[in-house]
Amino acid sequence: MPLTAQFAPLYEITADWLIVPVFEEEGFSGPLAALDQRLGGALSRLWQAGDVTSKPIELTPLLDVRGAAVPRVMIVGLGKRAALERSILTDAATAAARCVTDRPRRRVAFALPSPTERLGWEELALAAGVGLMQGSQGPGVRKTEPVRFVPDDLCLIAPPGADADAVQRGARRADIEGRAVALARELVNMPPSDLYPETFAALALEMAGAVGIACTVLDETQLESEKFGSLLGVARGSERPPRLVLLHWQGAEKPTRLGYVGKGVTFDSGGLSLKANDQMLDMKCDMAGAAAVLASILAIAELRLPVDVLGILALVENMPSGKALKLGDVLKARNGVTIEVLNTDAEGRLILADALAYAVDLRATHLVDLATLTGACMVALGEQVAGLMGNNETWNQQVQSAAQRAGERVWPLPMWPIYNDLIKSEVADIKNVSGKRYGGAIVGAKFLERFVGTTPWVHLDIAGPAWAEHASPIRDAGGTGCMVRTLVELAAAK
Ligand code: BES
Ligand code: MN
Ligand code: ZN
Repeated sequence: MPLTAQFAPLYEITADWLIVPVFEEEGFSGPLAALDQRLGGALSRLWQAGDVTSKPIELTPLLDVRGAAVPRVMIVGLGKRAALERSILTDAATAAARCVTDRPRRRVAFALPSPTERLGWEELALAAGVGLMQGSQGPGVRKTEPVRFVPDDLCLIAPPGADADAVQRGARRADIEGRAVALARELVNMPPSDLYPETFAALALEMAGAVGIACTVLDETQLESEKFGSLLGVARGSERPPRLVLLHWQGAEKPTRLGYVGKGVTFDSGGLSLKANDQMLDMKCDMAGAAAVLASILAIAELRLPVDVLGILALVENMPSGKALKLGDVLKARNGVTIEVLNTDAEGRLILADALAYAVDLRATHLVDLATLTGACMVALGEQVAGLMGNNETWNQQVQSAAQRAGERVWPLPMWPIYNDLIKSEVADIKNVSGKRYGGAIVGAKFLERFVGTTPWVHLDIAGPAWAEHASPIRDAGGTGCMVRTLVELAAAK
């Protein structure tokens, strides 16, 4: 399903569907007038009758269209031109693509809107292209009867007078980013008995090799000699041995070395602090952080971005068994910090502790960790917003603004020293839970802070946005591929 760009008048486009976005105050005047004319004024009649209002994401399909090369047109609303944001365009393209891919299609085309004050051709092509790709893939790949059909071809259309280089740049990046987001979604959607630490690591090794990323996998013996005591504690309850994947893309020699660290709990049963069925049923999503790290580094390498990025996937399965961690056990992390384990369901921070300390040892200068870490973060910010916590205001801001440019929602939570008391332990340096109800997302971050030293570090708690319980017009249920685009944008800006 390659995504390409084409420069031609809309009435000449051949495709199974032509998706035409329209602004509220413009209707079918301006750039869309020529198409309207070929269609015998059908579009402006719909507008005048009030059948098309162009509120954001409003969809109006036109079938059996006569007068243009294309037989079907999908009109999609964008709202007011002045209010257009990348995320609105992405959502509009996603919603339209979800509708038109209900049957096998050879080619789906999307007419780019003309540039606005804030968004040029490149931004428009990137935002629309990613949406088009997102909406063309669904989670039902294991259904006997498919409900969605990936088109052979996706195409962004710009008028012959457009800045062709900018459109091409945006389309190329959308193609790469769109595939990366789809990969992260698919990894999250994979059944946990198919995707476990060894298979995840093998996949990463193969995919990294294909695009020239250096990749090493540490097995349980190597993790032992590298002093990953905290991660190994979590892993020992499972029949499946842990893995740590180290990815290194060195697109340039730079003083800045980014370190992306992902929580990869391929299934979180809670361990001996066992979850109830309702809390466990979507816990195959607990590796979404690791999926975002792998997918974004693949995209960064494919884009040949001139940056130095480390990716670390901390892969374990959290299971109860006769060998599992017990409450009251004390673990020693790679950096020497001792941890009293009082809840085996707070396992993400235990594996990230070692992985973050490892990233610091590998001389990462700026860290971002991504983790489906706490239900408390969803209580604080809802299901669609990631929590952002860190130890360096400048770096916090840079990550937050990269997310904003990528059209993804993150919001800061405080990290004041008053919270340090919550993880004080009687028997070890720290404990892994506070034992109190409040401020759970921050407690998790305060714990992680002990493993990054003075390196600028941001923790993104993606427990909410990593997973969609229900489908909506703008997205499928299941894995969302969240933060892949933010991580690519962050690298592109460095
Ligand atoms: N993986 C969960 C967090 C989670 C919850 C992710 C819901 C996605 C949706 C994490 O390992 C966990 O169990 N956290 C505990 C922490 C508690 C024991 C301090 C939680 O949130 O209840
Ligand atoms: Mn847990
Ligand atoms: Zn977990």
